[in-house]
Amino acid sequence: MTLHGPDPAAYAERRQALRTDLSPEADGGTNGGAVLFLPESPEVVFANDVHFAYRPETNLRYLSGFEEPAALLLTAHGGEEDGFTLCVKPRDEQSETWTGRRVGLDGARQLYRADYAHPLEETYEILLRHLRRAGKLYYGHSREPQINQKILELVHQANAERPRRGGEPLVVTEAGPLLAEHRLRKRPEEIALMRKAGEISAAAHQRLMETLKAGDREYQAQARLDYDFRFNGCSGPAYGTICAGGANATVLHYTRNEAVLCDGDLVLVDAGGEYGGYCSDITRTFPVGVGFSKSQAALYDCVLDAQQAAIDVVRPGIAIEEVHKTSVRVLTQGLIDIGVLDGSLDDCIEKSKYSPFYMHNTSHWLGMDVHDAGTYRHAGASRTLEAGMVLTVEPGLYVRSDAPAPEHFRGIGIRIEDDVLVTADGAEVLSAAAPKRRAELESIRRTAAAR
Ligand code: GLY
Ligand code: MN
Ligand code: MN
Repeated sequence: MTLHGPDPAAYAERRQALRTDLSPEADGGTNGGAVLFLPESPEVVFANDVHFAYRPETNLRYLSGFEEPAALLLTAHGGEEDGFTLCVKPRDEQSETWTGRRVGLDGARQLYRADYAHPLEETYEILLRHLRRAGKLYYGHSREPQINQKILELVHQANAERPRRGGEPLVVTEAGPLLAEHRLRKRPEEIALMRKAGEISAAAHQRLMETLKAGDREYQAQARLDYDFRFNGCSGPAYGTICAGGANATVLHYTRNEAVLCDGDLVLVDAGGEYGGYCSDITRTFPVGVGFSKSQAALYDCVLDAQQAAIDVVRPGIAIEEVHKTSVRVLTQGLIDIGVLDGSLDDCIEKSKYSPFYMHNTSHWLGMDVHDAGTYRHAGASRTLEAGMVLTVEPGLYVRSDAPAPEHFRGIGIRIEDDVLVTADGAEVLSAAAPKRRAELESIRRTAAAR
């Protein structure tokens, strides 16, 4: 079970909610009941005799909390072995001597509440039995082509028997969108874990602001954050921590983290911990020295104003594209006001004149994955926000060293990112404890320098 994660009853509720979508009634009684199948994620080699830490596919974790290599079936066809099946590695003394205790078949049933448990190598046999019975397969496509190939063969085999057994050919569809609709709306236990991930991560950002010194290397800043995440119960960072000093901050997904941090520069820190299986994703940008220069302050205020305006529009019933449009509007007006862009606001937006300085979206879904499951458009339109959804709000301005902007703005990159829960009547910022007001950042940095 995921450390600090949901308890077995929470997973059972998630499976129950999903089985409603798998039932024959969900498809108007036409499909005879569906099978959801999530294959095993392969282990990935790091180097000779060493693997990367095993990471189960997120949908499998969402439905079970199971963390060893396993395949999962959830069915609602009313036939034999209908329900929740886990195919897992059986207990084995020899292997467990090397790699630690396994949950095994009994554990899968008792601890993970599987109705049925089988050895992992029997997965395809078990799946075929269900496919013979079901009308529809929701398949979580694998990143491994040979697994997808094998599933197609099984579908073909089940279909080849249909003319004599009776029944329509199996409908095969991708499981991701169905699961995404569930994962998009967070349950209470998920919100509690995301709040905790936000608190730990915000505190780590603040501690870094209080301790960082000019002359430190970017990786030393990274080390402090990653230490705080782990020390406070996170499994680790939820994604590769970004600590980018000076012009490195104009590289959106900078991860080298090797340069020396220089007085006079800003440092952009994009880092969040993963707690109980749930991510935080926070960016703060603050001075390596004690204060912002005039140019840095001008750009910082544009980004902070845009971020606040965008957070202010988050509430149930608004389209997610409004969050982006709001931040683009405020950023663009800011760029005009400080002399980076020329022309009217509408003209600059219509011609995307802001795009050399702001080239990414303002939001993504956040949850068990940092870029979480869920579409941004639904039924032909921008998705409407609902209570329980969690999104980031992360505008930025990136003036590369060769950018078409006044010299004094060049080499400055700023992003400010918070994690926002849509509530019944507005929004809750899960990462609010990480300081971001300019005066507050300067005060923290002055106190740090005086120590
Ligand atoms: N940390 C990745 C992102 O902000 O999307
Ligand atoms: Mn993000
Ligand atoms: Mn981020």
